[in-house]
Formats: sequence, structure tokens, C-alpha cells
Amino acid sequence: MTAQPGSPRALSPDAGPGSAPAHRIESSARSLLAVRQLRLTDFRNYRQLRLDCGLEPVVLVGGNGTGKTNLLEALSFLAPGRGLRRARLDDVGHRLRGEAPGTGTGPTNWAVAATLDTPDGRLTIGTGLEPGRGEGSSSRRVVRIDGKAASSQTALGLHVAAVWLTPQLDRLFLDGASERRRFLDRLVTALHPQHAGDVAAYEHALRQRARVLAEGGRDPHWFTALEDTMARHGVALAAARADTVHRLDAAARLGIGPFPRAALTMAGEVDDWLDTMAALDAEDRLRATLAANRLRDAEAGTTSCGPHRSDLAVRHLDLDLPAAEGSTGQQKAVLVSIALAHARLVAMSRGRPPLLLLDEIAAHLDAERRTALFDEVVALGAQSWMTGTDAELFAPLRGRAQILCVADGSIAAV
Ligand SMILES: Nc1ncnc2c1ncn2[C@@H]1O[C@H](COP(=O)(O)OP(=O)(O)OP(=O)(O)O)[C@@H](O)[C@H]1O
Ligand SMILES: [Mg+2]
Repeated sequence: MTAQPGSPRALSPDAGPGSAPAHRIESSARSLLAVRQLRLTDFRNYRQLRLDCGLEPVVLVGGNGTGKTNLLEALSFLAPGRGLRRARLDDVGHRLRGEAPGTGTGPTNWAVAATLDTPDGRLTIGTGLEPGRGEGSSSRRVVRIDGKAASSQTALGLHVAAVWLTPQLDRLFLDGASERRRFLDRLVTALHPQHAGDVAAYEHALRQRARVLAEGGRDPHWFTALEDTMARHGVALAAARADTVHRLDAAARLGIGPFPRAALTMAGEVDDWLDTMAALDAEDRLRATLAANRLRDAEAGTTSCGPHRSDLAVRHLDLDLPAAEGSTGQQKAVLVSIALAHARLVAMSRGRPPLLLLDEIAAHLDAERRTALFDEVVALGAQSWMTGTDAELFAPLRGRAQILCVADGSIAAV
């Protein structure tokens, strides 16, 4: 079954000869968060796409450049944040071939709409970039939940959590702390939906304070207001990170099948305070420290204290080494271990697993680990979306997942 690029596709799990009927997929029937229909409009290489899905995991197979990662990116916009690529929103809109970002006359507005099954029942989410209301106003991100405009995308976190592993994250333990914080904050938001809002508010105030300092601003009232925002949201976000890391550490220490046992800790000044003092005292301390450091921060051009300087430390317990010292495959296995432990934890504590978006997941995993990952994903009941160029690697999932073929902006059952 093939489709013309750009033509709308209607596809159901029993649409193709190779797809498994829902009654054969017993273990996945417990899935409590599943995309049942996805509709894309002018989203990257998809002009129009409609995809109907069952509850079970989805495998997207196709050649390089066909649109597998783009589809995962579209799904990632159903949760708070800037999506799996952290792209500029106007780079996401469909461009004609050869057109550089931001230069074309083609549409830059785009939309992702989904119908989901959740523990609270059917839910529709629509998000995308829409033209601004007034004349000359620029496009803006909109979020609609069950048809009603949400005041911010943080509201999405109440319904959907998404966690992704991409080839870029293979360097997570080797790269700088900011990538690890971003990864961690996604895990935290899955357990504490307001976390995305705290991070956004803290970072906004952090940037504003840095700008006022760089411009030589001296108005103490302005600084006091910004530092108060930083203290309140900064301690709230650090507390949510501490709670998540504590619970995730306990889960990851158990290991999952052939995936290694891992230990997680937070390293940072504000994190240390929270070990020994109440949150309100930590807020006061952060407020006082920021006020005392204004001159120093202005000279250094950085903000020397706050949760934006914390790091997530991960150890590979089976090797008894920091995760960064394992081989590429061992690092990937730790990452998968953490993602699976996290999915279990979220499923247990919120009654709905996160959407797991696993891009090129088979790369670097040996056959034993691949099979174990597939078994765990099915057992979790999470609607995991996996991609790969080689359909054979997903053979153990036949009959337990929807295996779809991606070809140049269209999708068909294998
Ligand atoms: N804004 C856009 N408009 C149109 N096409 C785009 C846009 N952004 C990216 N593309 C194109 O979409 C195509 C598919 O990209 P994607 O990253 O999804 O491929 P993929 O199937 O994941 O490939 P690989 O196996 O190499 O990872 C690419 O050719 C890319 O250039
Ligand atoms: Mg890709």
C-alpha cells in the first residue's frame, strides 16, 4: 500500500494485510495513553496526513529522509515544550524543496491535531503556529484542548507526557550539563506537570535579570521583583527535580532485564540546600544570594547561583563507573534503562504512561537488548513510537505492534 506524497491518508490498524487485529494484542490493551488519530497540516515534509492508530506500540520504518523523525517531532508537540528538535517554530512549517528556512513565500503556519485515549476518556489536542490576530502581527503558537484555547502550553502536561530518546541523546553523558538538565526536566514534567511552567518562569526571569545587569540597570525594585520570581520558581523546580530523581533512582537501581542498573543524583548548590533545609528557607537563601551577587554577576556576565547550574549525575552500577565512562552501547543501554524505569514510575504514579518516542532505537542495541526493550514496551502498555530504517530489526514485535512504512511524506501499513 503506497500513497502519493501530500495526499491525506486514512489508515487503521487493521487496514493492511500485515497489521495485527486489536484482539491479538492483549498485553497492550491496558495502554492508558494512546494516540488514536493524528492529523498533520503543513508539518515539515507532510502537507496533509491523517493516521488512525490502535492502542499498541507503533513502528515507523522507512529510508533516510522519508519523515520518520518528523512524525515523532509532531507527536512531541502534544506535550509542553518546543518539541523534540527544539526547532524555531517557523522552521517547522512545510517548505518547498530547496527553500531555505524563513525565505520562502510558502506557508510557515502548521498544525498538529490528535485524538487520544486517556484514563479520563477521549481527548483532542490541537497545536501549531497560527497567524496573529491583528494586521501585521506575527504568527504565534496556539494550544487547544477539547476545542478550548489553553492559556499556555503548560496545560498540555496535565494530559500528556512525552519522553524521547534520539541519536543526539547518545552523547547525553558526554555533553554539557544543560543537555542533561533539559532531559531531566522532561522526565520531571511527566511526574509534576507544573514543572514546565516553573522552568519557563525561572528562565524568563533569569534572562531578564541578566539583561538588566548587562545594561547597567540599578533599580533595586526591579531586581528584587525578578529575584523573587527566580527564588520562588527556582526552588519549586529544584524540589520537583529532587523528588523525581529520588524516585527514579530507586526504580533505576533495580535494572530492567539486560539493561543496566543505574544510580541518579542531583549535583548543585540549591539541590544541596534542599537536602538540609525547608523549601521556604531555600527560597530566602536564593533570594539573598542573588541580591548579594548582583555586582559579581554583572562583571562575570553569568548568574552564579541557581538551579540553572545544577547537573544530573548518573552512574552505571553494573560497571561501577560514571555513565560517561561506558562504551557508546553501554551509555545507550543506561539511557534506555532510565527511560523505561521512568515510564514505569509515571504509569504507576499518574495512572498513565508517557508517550515514548524512540528514534532509531535499534542502533547500538544488540539483539538481546532489542528484544528486551520490545518486551518491556509491550508490557508497559505505553504507546511507544519507534523508528528505524531496517524492518527486520523489529521482527520480534510482529503481531504486537503496528508496523508502518514511511515514504516521502506518507504512511502505509506494512
Ligand atoms: N520544514 C520542512 N519542510 C519540508 N521538508 C522538511 C522540513 N524540515 C525538514 N524537512 C525534510 O523532511 C525530510 C524527512 O526528515 P526526517 O528527519 O523526518 O527523516 P527521517 O525519515 O527521520 O530520516 P533518517 O532515517 O535519515 O533519520 C527530510 O528530507 C528533510 O529535509
Ligand atoms: Mg530520523
